[in-house]
Amino acid sequence: MSSLLITGGAGFIGANFVHYWRRSHPDDSMVVLDALTYAGNPENLAGLEGQEGFRLVKGDIRGFDLVVSLMRDHDIDTIVHFAAESHVDRSIHGPDEFIDTNVVGTHQLLKAAKEMWLSGSGRPHRFHHVSTDEVYGSLAPDDPAFTEDTPYAPNSPYAASKAASDHLVRAYHHTYGLETTISNCSNNYGPYQFPEKLIPLMLINILNNKPLPVYGKGLNIRDWIHVEDHCRGLELVLEKGAVGEVYNLGGNSEKRNIEVVKTICSSMDDLFARDKDLAKRCPDAPPAQGEPSETLIAFVSDRAGHDFRYAINSLKSSRQLGFLPEINFEEGLAATIAWYLDNESWWRRVMDGSYRDWLSIQYGSLD
Ligand code: NAD
Ligand code: TYD
Repeated sequence: MSSLLITGGAGFIGANFVHYWRRSHPDDSMVVLDALTYAGNPENLAGLEGQEGFRLVKGDIRGFDLVVSLMRDHDIDTIVHFAAESHVDRSIHGPDEFIDTNVVGTHQLLKAAKEMWLSGSGRPHRFHHVSTDEVYGSLAPDDPAFTEDTPYAPNSPYAASKAASDHLVRAYHHTYGLETTISNCSNNYGPYQFPEKLIPLMLINILNNKPLPVYGKGLNIRDWIHVEDHCRGLELVLEKGAVGEVYNLGGNSEKRNIEVVKTICSSMDDLFARDKDLAKRCPDAPPAQGEPSETLIAFVSDRAGHDFRYAINSLKSSRQLGFLPEINFEEGLAATIAWYLDNESWWRRVMDGSYRDWLSIQYGSLD
């Protein structure tokens, strides 16, 4: 039995991980520490509040004393660190929060873990840091995929802040002997993803009859992994990963952005054609009016410093941990679309308020 502190557990991947872990390790206890920024939502953990062995604490990872007291009160032996500012476009418009949370926050967490786990006689523990493939920079079309030995070359303020946090985790292992692991994962999609990221943004914009803003020519490539496969990978790293090691987790599913957007459009058209009730529920969507969703595609100015291609080589994780993504992109996307259609009240709620301010900064006249 373990006692986990999960930072950022009310966000997209963190919440999926909490549900996954609850199902696969029902005897473990979990404390979620989350600042509940615009991206964190207690609703993502609905059903867990009040259960024995689960607690959600609203608080900041930069609060050293808070982290120490949570670790002490709950006898934490494992930290799974998701909390971060995570959106590249936001990091371009306002990098400060990315440095504050991703760099300073990770450092405060490491300091607290060192204080609690390494002082005195020490105790068995694990600090797992959830990171991204974006730390490796950008690939040309024919470059080999990123391995764990690819030199870091982060290009956005987000990627640079994650790279800095990875280095701090490495240093706390090397210098102090903190028992750490790091995973670098490719682009996730699935339930609870905040609708500022490509896939949920596009499918919700179709439902709302809003333009689908494709940056540049839409030729950039991402390696998509369903969040459930990521959670399975994290479980393998926690259970079988060697201390001090880094593991890449990828989806083996490279796609150009325009291909992803067109697949979403055709899936939505098919769904509306099959289910006539959808047109009643979402009368604004083009397919409800007999128009293809693709008519909404709008090529817009490219993202500043837009990385061309990410691709993950997960050979080390598959050989050493038995990791293999199990959900293919088409199935995963269909399930994701179904989730957003079934959870309209969720995305409508998370999309008002401060999210609207962000849309007007980002897209101005498009909204
Ligand atoms: P997200 O933005 O959906 O969630 C981040 C969570 O962290 C939110 O719940 C937010 O409230 C919380 N948070 C932010 N600042 C905090 C602070 N100072 N203290 C406590 N909590 C705070 O992000 P996500 O997409 O779920 O990503 C989770 C982690 O996975 C991040 O570290 C990200 O870098 C990494 N990652 C994401 C992807 C992806 O495709 N989304 C891919 C690889 C790695
Ligand atoms: P995103 O989901 O923001 O993830 P990341 O930047 O971490 O890869 O974007 C995925 C890709 O989609 C990326 O190449 C940028 C592109 N994109 C668009 O073309 N339009 C959009 O509105 C968004 C949000 C992203």
